[in-house]
Amino acid sequence: MISIRLSTQNTQSFISNDTIQNEIPNVERVYRELISKTGKGNDFLGWLNLPEEITSDLLDEIKHTAGQLAALAQVVVVVGIGGSYLGARAVIEALQHPFKTLLPDKKTPLVLFAGNSMGENYHKALIDVLNIKDYAVIVISKSGTTTEPAIAFRILKEHCEKKYGKKEAQKRIVAITDEKRGALKKLSTEENYKTFVIPDDVGGRYSVLTPVGLLPIACAGFNIEKLIAGAKNMRASLMQYPHFNENIAMQYALCRYLLYKEEKKLELVVAYEPQLFFFIEWFKQLFGESDGKDGKGIFPTGAVFSTDLHSLGQYIQEGERHLFETVLSVEKVTSHLPIPFDNNDLDGLNYLQQKSIHEINLVAEEGTRLAHIAGNVPNIRIVIPEISEETLGELIYFFEFSCALGGYLLNINPFDQPGVEAYKSNMFRLLGKK
Ligand code: PA5
Repeated sequence: MISIRLSTQNTQSFISNDTIQNEIPNVERVYRELISKTGKGNDFLGWLNLPEEITSDLLDEIKHTAGQLAALAQVVVVVGIGGSYLGARAVIEALQHPFKTLLPDKKTPLVLFAGNSMGENYHKALIDVLNIKDYAVIVISKSGTTTEPAIAFRILKEHCEKKYGKKEAQKRIVAITDEKRGALKKLSTEENYKTFVIPDDVGGRYSVLTPVGLLPIACAGFNIEKLIAGAKNMRASLMQYPHFNENIAMQYALCRYLLYKEEKKLELVVAYEPQLFFFIEWFKQLFGESDGKDGKGIFPTGAVFSTDLHSLGQYIQEGERHLFETVLSVEKVTSHLPIPFDNNDLDGLNYLQQKSIHEINLVAEEGTRLAHIAGNVPNIRIVIPEISEETLGELIYFFEFSCALGGYLLNINPFDQPGVEAYKSNMFRLLGKK
């Protein structure tokens, strides 16, 4: 049984029931294409069965390696960009204590990220930290040739070798890359690094449930078996139900597609829990890189409410009517922080006494939903009982599956990214690369 729930009822005034009924055969057709692996990009469908196919041996090896790194390092630096970065960060930030760095209890290393930008200040500041902390490096690149992580890794490798000596540095570096190809594969073989493989048929943005996501997540101390169990649950449900009425990925994919046809060209993914910020970043990459092709595709964007209600709220309520919202609605949180009673009540908040912040947050969510629907913003709601490894696993698989269906509805290949090359070739030309 899956635990997350989808509600599309607040899109009904924007899409007629007749339109939905007419399109159901279409989404059921692309569903069959996806699971029978006969659609576009079908050589990149390894993610479909990953939760089932990942072996306990591989999970044990990942946990063992994470344990070895944790024994050596206070900080684990994960070097990667795009799909080789966002999935791990999304899960870690969703589960981790937001002030982990300031807590005395350091049972697990702090996972930091590098090579996801070319910010010189950022990377220099990281080096300042690595000068005084013991650290290890996980370098991730499927192609093994991406410039940003390659630059960061060259700097970190040199630093690590200077700090610990070459032999010790080799123990502190783990590479995750293609089985046979690419500069990183060659380098790892020569340097004798511990290596994990990214399967050939899993693209970067679909790779969070491979060692790409699992090793950093395990290093941060989270339960990768539970994450996989959540994904497995979702997979079982989506595979079991080939009909629209029972399949939440088909319902979500069709709903977004029909809103898009109604000129709702932007999907604003909203969380009311700030710890989901990077989950939204992962979503943006998954959907943006998959759908945005051939002059088509919903533009995925995101916000954290109520924070952004004080910045984007005005636009969402009254600006151009070209967007819809997908709200990640978390029912229960683990902490409880009630509003105290105050004798003077100078701030006028006694009417909220003993309510928890989360209860008020849920009311803010409901009030916002009503206001936005009244303001002609269709609202899709994904209800998450609580943030945990299991629910994140469910969400990851749900969004991957929905994204693939959405791409097929648009009649594009959701698994390639030819447009990403354009900036690279200009950059290489301007840099004088041979
Ligand atoms: O989803 C994708 O394929 C991309 O976002 C890649 O993950 C990203 O460009 C990094 O590529 P690589 O892992 O080859 O360094």
